[in-house]
Amino acid sequence: MDTIEQIATDPAEAEQGGAPVIAVEDLHKSFGSQHVLDGISLAVKRGETLAVLGRSGTGKSVLLRLIIGLETPDSGSVRIHGQAIAGLALDQLGEIRKKMGFLFQHAALYDSLTVEQNVAFPLQHHKKNMPKSEKADRVRQLLAEVGMEDALAKMPSDISGGMQKRVGLARALALEPDILLLDEPTAGLDPISAAEIDDLVLKLQQEHHMASIVVTHDLHSAKTIANRLALLNRGKVVIEGDFEELQKSDIEFVKEFLKHS
Ligand SMILES: Nc1ncnc2c1ncn2[C@@H]1O[C@H](COP(=O)(O)OP(=O)(O)OP(=O)(O)O)[C@@H](O)[C@H]1O
Ligand SMILES: [Mg+2]
Repeated sequence: MDTIEQIATDPAEAEQGGAPVIAVEDLHKSFGSQHVLDGISLAVKRGETLAVLGRSGTGKSVLLRLIIGLETPDSGSVRIHGQAIAGLALDQLGEIRKKMGFLFQHAALYDSLTVEQNVAFPLQHHKKNMPKSEKADRVRQLLAEVGMEDALAKMPSDISGGMQKRVGLARALALEPDILLLDEPTAGLDPISAAEIDDLVLKLQQEHHMASIVVTHDLHSAKTIANRLALLNRGKVVIEGDFEELQKSDIEFVKEFLKHS
């Protein structure tokens, strides 16, 4: 009998049909005696957004850093497009990272660079052969996509937190990633700015069909932007499903989390 792999020869098509772009399996990570991640498994396909929720200190940011390969797990695996990232040489990891756009929880931007230079940064480093004028056009286009084209010459300290997140998103998209990892994109923003960022993330996802993981405390935001939610507690995924499934859950921690969100 034909396998799915044999029928679908186009990798993008095959992934849309089912193979995860990001596959995390039984991930464990400790710092000293603190067992932060205790067997996390998650998978995200092309076009999907998974929201990772959980209390402060549950290891959400650590999980993203493991996926990016900035930290190594004690055991378990991270596969990107089927390729395990453990043990890859730095240049191979670099190639995979080029396909990942990420927005860190803190320090969304480089303080000493202008908005324009921040967004141009990945192009300067990874598209050395791209003509200067094309880079400039691309930066303008990216900033227009997030509604920040008028802030080109500004310094990060001269724009609001919400605007900084927008610029960070533009920078994350610079290399046309097929994976988008966002760590608390709405934290610290007022509700209106947070809703604007949610709308923007949703729009970007609809236009670019990436495999996305958004870490957030904010259940409302998770509901808006994600197809699926995973709630972490004590190093494990307590529940994974859509918002209705979380609402229906009898698990005490899930009820408690929803009550306080
Ligand atoms: N490099 C490190 N060395 C030692 N401990 C660390 C390191 N990175 C993270 N930790 C610890 O791991 C735990 C999880 O951290 P993490 O930043 O992932 O939490 P989080 O879920 O993102 O929290 P928040 O919602 O506050 O951002 C914390 O107790 C943190 O102190
Ligand atoms: Mg965090």
